[in-house]
Amino acid sequence: MKEQIHLTLGDLTRLKVDAIVNAANKSLLGGGGVDGAIHRSAGPGLLEECQTLGGCETGDAKITKAYQLLARHVIHTVGPVYRGGHSGEALKLASCYRRCFEVAAGSNIGSIAFPSISTGAYGYPVGEACRIALTISLEQLAKFTQIESVVFVTFSGKDLLTYARQLAEM
Ligand code: AR6
Repeated sequence: MKEQIHLTLGDLTRLKVDAIVNAANKSLLGGGGVDGAIHRSAGPGLLEECQTLGGCETGDAKITKAYQLLARHVIHTVGPVYRGGHSGEALKLASCYRRCFEVAAGSNIGSIAFPSISTGAYGYPVGEACRIALTISLEQLAKFTQIESVVFVTFSGKDLLTYARQLAEM
């Protein structure tokens, strides 16, 4: 399972995978960070489709087409805002990753790329968040064998190192 996980530095919107995951907000109507980058690269069709979805709860995920992106689909998930770690954030973040795999498996997706959900504007410490991301991904790869590859895309070398160290320990 571990060999199905890949780590890379850079821009998630450039990846040619079956699905990229968007770290969205509950409205699903766009925002800053990776969400803004995805909407800018996908073009207006993505927002139009998102407007039909009725938003998304924290910890849930919804899928759309990817329009002008190289990926085929976007899976939009809403991570928790970090409020010190005692407000159920870990369970909600785990649920994001789990739901993304469930949605992907239901849409014939073999390769999926994640940003580091909640660790930007939502303030989740990267070390804690990446442990959850990697643990749940290993669990879900064992469950959904049609998903062959998972890529974690970090936006900084420091975050990449955090992921690499954590993965090495698993
Ligand atoms: N490719 C890969 N990673 C990126 C990219 C990119 N193009 N751009 C940013 N990151 P954030 P959140 C990294 O803030 O914390 C939005 O406004 C970034 O450095 O995008 O879940 C939404 O609409 C960080 O490591 O997502 C929500 O309102 C990680 O992606 C809110 O922000 C996540 O940072 C969601 O906040």
